[in-house]
Amino acid sequence: MSTLVWFDDEVRPADEPVVTALDRGLLVGDGVFDTCVVIDGRPFALRRHVARLARSAERVGLPAPPADVVTRAALDLAARLDGPTGRLRITWTAGPAEGGPARTGTTPTLLLTAETHPVAHPSAASAQAPVRTALVTVPWVRNERSPLVGVKSTSYAENVLAIEYARRHGGTEAVLANTRDELCEGGASNLFLETDGELLTPPLDSGCLAGVTRELVLEWGAAAGLPVREATVPLADFRAADHAAVTSATRGIVAADILDGRKLRPGPVTLEMQRVFAERVAQDLDP
Ligand SMILES: Cc1ncc(COP(=O)(O)O)c(C=O)c1O
Repeated sequence: MSTLVWFDDEVRPADEPVVTALDRGLLVGDGVFDTCVVIDGRPFALRRHVARLARSAERVGLPAPPADVVTRAALDLAARLDGPTGRLRITWTAGPAEGGPARTGTTPTLLLTAETHPVAHPSAASAQAPVRTALVTVPWVRNERSPLVGVKSTSYAENVLAIEYARRHGGTEAVLANTRDELCEGGASNLFLETDGELLTPPLDSGCLAGVTRELVLEWGAAAGLPVREATVPLADFRAADHAAVTSATRGIVAADILDGRKLRPGPVTLEMQRVFAERVAQDLDP
């Protein structure tokens, strides 16, 4: 596995210190980020990820990161990665400032990291399939009225704790409801329920992140005439599901094998959607 870092217009080894001890991203989680998968040396769906990064920045009152610099750095890092697949992260923090919660005239920090990583992305011919996807419902909820809804924030500890809870309970990904007991999303993914011949995913007002993969599944599924749509899903319905699926940049769309200890089978619409997804990715790496 190799890891590369881009900072201040230079590619550096991963162990070289780059941010200062006063960086607000480090001290108070004041920053945003985005992650995409790298397939054969190219960041997948880079334009959509850079656009979401700008939306996240705007939502938290940071200036938009310079799209041209970010794009150039991302293409450069991805091309240098060893191995057929990897992941690339763009981080944009409020930058160094005086301590304390208030921002004091900061200059944002831009940082990119890339690492080789075996991903389950269906489009990557050489990708290694994940061992399994086991979902565990966690005892905490996503607050759909939080100011960070829809923001890919570096304040990620809630997600980390949810995923760690899932892991302690034999899972690989967390299931989060919102305060209304509706299905919201995974710890670092969007969730789909396949029921009555339809593939359903919560709408954005559930409090979930507007996942790029979710968006592509909705768009490409509709274009292929598949029954894939947004719908409010009570958490209890999801937990009773026969078929569930998970989407994220590094996973693409995968069927869940286990939900709260119960075995699931891949649903027929999910399987068809995986086929369409792989086909579309093979046609265009920046849709
Ligand atoms: C909380 C959360 N929801 C959803 C997703 C999936 O988004 P994407 O498909 O853009 O990776 C992620 C990705 O990391 C995430 O962190």
